[in-house]
Amino acid sequence: MPASLALHDVRVRYGPVEALHGVDLAFPAGAVTALLGRNGAGRSTLLRTLAGLLSPTSGRIEWDGRDVTRWTASERARDGLALIPDGHGVFAGLSVRDNLRVFASADTIDPALDAFPVLRKRLGQRAGTLSGGEQQMLAVSRALLRPSRVLLLDELSQGLAPRVVAQLYDVVSELAAGQRTVVLVEQYAGEALRRADVAYVLRRGRVAFAGEPGELRTDGHASLFD
Ligand SMILES: Nc1ncnc2c1ncn2[C@@H]1O[C@H](COP(=O)(O)OP(=O)(O)OP(=O)(O)O)[C@@H](O)[C@H]1O
Ligand SMILES: [Mg+2]
Repeated sequence: MPASLALHDVRVRYGPVEALHGVDLAFPAGAVTALLGRNGAGRSTLLRTLAGLLSPTSGRIEWDGRDVTRWTASERARDGLALIPDGHGVFAGLSVRDNLRVFASADTIDPALDAFPVLRKRLGQRAGTLSGGEQQMLAVSRALLRPSRVLLLDELSQGLAPRVVAQLYDVVSELAAGQRTVVLVEQYAGEALRRADVAYVLRRGRVAFAGEPGELRTDGHASLFD
C-alpha cells in the first residue's frame, strides 16, 4: 500500500517535555490505520502534528510525496485533511442544520443525512443537546461534506455503545474504501482492530508495535499498553 502520509523521525515537545521521541510511521491511502496506546502515550499529539496544529522540533512530515512539515493547519485543511478531535469538535450552540451548513463546501448536506439518517430528525436541535453518538455522527459528517482525503479521528468510540460505534465505523470504513486515508486513534479497542488494515501502538512517545491488527488481537501484547 503506498503511503499517503508519513512521519520521519518526528520529535514534538511541549515546553521542556518531549512527547514524541523520533517517530517513523506511514499511513496508507485507501486503508484504515488504528493508532493505539494508553493514556498519555502521545496519540493526540501525533494527530495534532499531522494536522499542523503542533510543529515538530525535528523530523519531517510527508503527504503524497510532498514535504508538508511547514504547512499551516489551514493549508493542510484546504488540501483535504480533516481532524475530528477528541470530544467531537461540533459547534454546541448551533443547530444540527447550521453545523452541517458550516461543514459543507457545496450547498447540499444530503450526504451526511444519508449516512446518518438520525440527524434528519435532529436538524433543528442544538448540537450540544445531542447524545454523544449523535455528536460524533455530526463530527464525522464534516468529512462527508468536504472533499477530504485524510481523516484523523481521535477517540471516536469513547463512551459510546457498541451499536453506535459499529455504525460510525461503517461510515469510516466506506471512506477508506473510497481511497481516503483514515487514522483511528483509540485505546486498546477490539472494534478498531477488527476494522483496521494496519495497526500501530505508541508507548510513551515511541512506536512500540507496527504490523497486522490480527497480531495484536492475540494474547501477549499487554506490555505494549503499560
Ligand atoms: N498541552 C500540553 N502541555 C504539556 N504537556 C502535554 C500537553 N498535551 C499533552 N501533553 C503531554 O504529552 C504526552 C502525550 O499526550 P497525548 O495527549 O498526546 O496522549 P494520548 O495518547 O492522546 O493520551 P490521552 O488522550 O489519554 O491523553 C503526555 O505525557 C501528556 O501529559
Ligand atoms: Mg488523546
